[in-house]
Amino acid sequence: MLILSDMKYSYRRERPVFDIPRMEIPAGEIVGIVGANGAGKSTFLRCLCGMERSCKATMKTRNESLDNKARRRKIYMVMQDVNHQLFTDSVLEEIMISQEIENKDEALNILESLDLGKYADKHPLALSGGQKQRVAVASAIASGRDIILFDEPTSGLDYYHMILVADILNDLKNRGKTVIIVTHDIEL
Ligand SMILES: Nc1ncnc2c1ncn2[C@@H]1O[C@H](COP(=O)(O)OP(=O)(O)O)[C@@H](O)[C@H]1O
Ligand SMILES: [Mg+2]
Repeated sequence: MLILSDMKYSYRRERPVFDIPRMEIPAGEIVGIVGANGAGKSTFLRCLCGMERSCKATMKTRNESLDNKARRRKIYMVMQDVNHQLFTDSVLEEIMISQEIENKDEALNILESLDLGKYADKHPLALSGGQKQRVAVASAIASGRDIILFDEPTSGLDYYHMILVADILNDLKNRGKTVIIVTHDIEL
């Protein structure tokens, strides 16, 4: 279990978006948190991965207690708009900047496993929406982090691509990752 304490956050002078004294999230599983637009899902993920400095939540795992800074190193977030996290000139570079220790062969293997091998030399922004999202997932895998968050991973996708995303989420789980998704898409 990942045990979260003091998950509380307010935007300046607003009432709290959420205030959760304690929450348990099963490790090594896929967990979906579902809610309407404006419910606080994106804010929750930013607090979870340590990006909201004024959120003082802690996360306990079996053997560590993680503050914001520790969680920023431990957790990888795939944002709703993946264009915000594509930085380099090639898909291969994109994967390699996420690796703790650069390893081209491993990066190529990850791309291959997500059916992106033939795009290694392409510019990430030249890909389709679904392909860009797979690049973001490939970066998440390359980061080696155990906990991966997804903000609305199927927004704008049709049924066929939703199924592809679901397969990717299952694949991450099978690689031993803890996957946490927030979405308003009940179908997913
Ligand atoms: N930067 C911000 N400043 C002030 N209020 C915000 C900001 N971002 C989101 N909110 C408000 O916080 C609430 C939760 O937003 P959000 O986490 O984006 O919800 P969701 O992702 O579930 O749609 C909403 O009422 C939203 O208007
Ligand atoms: Mg949101």
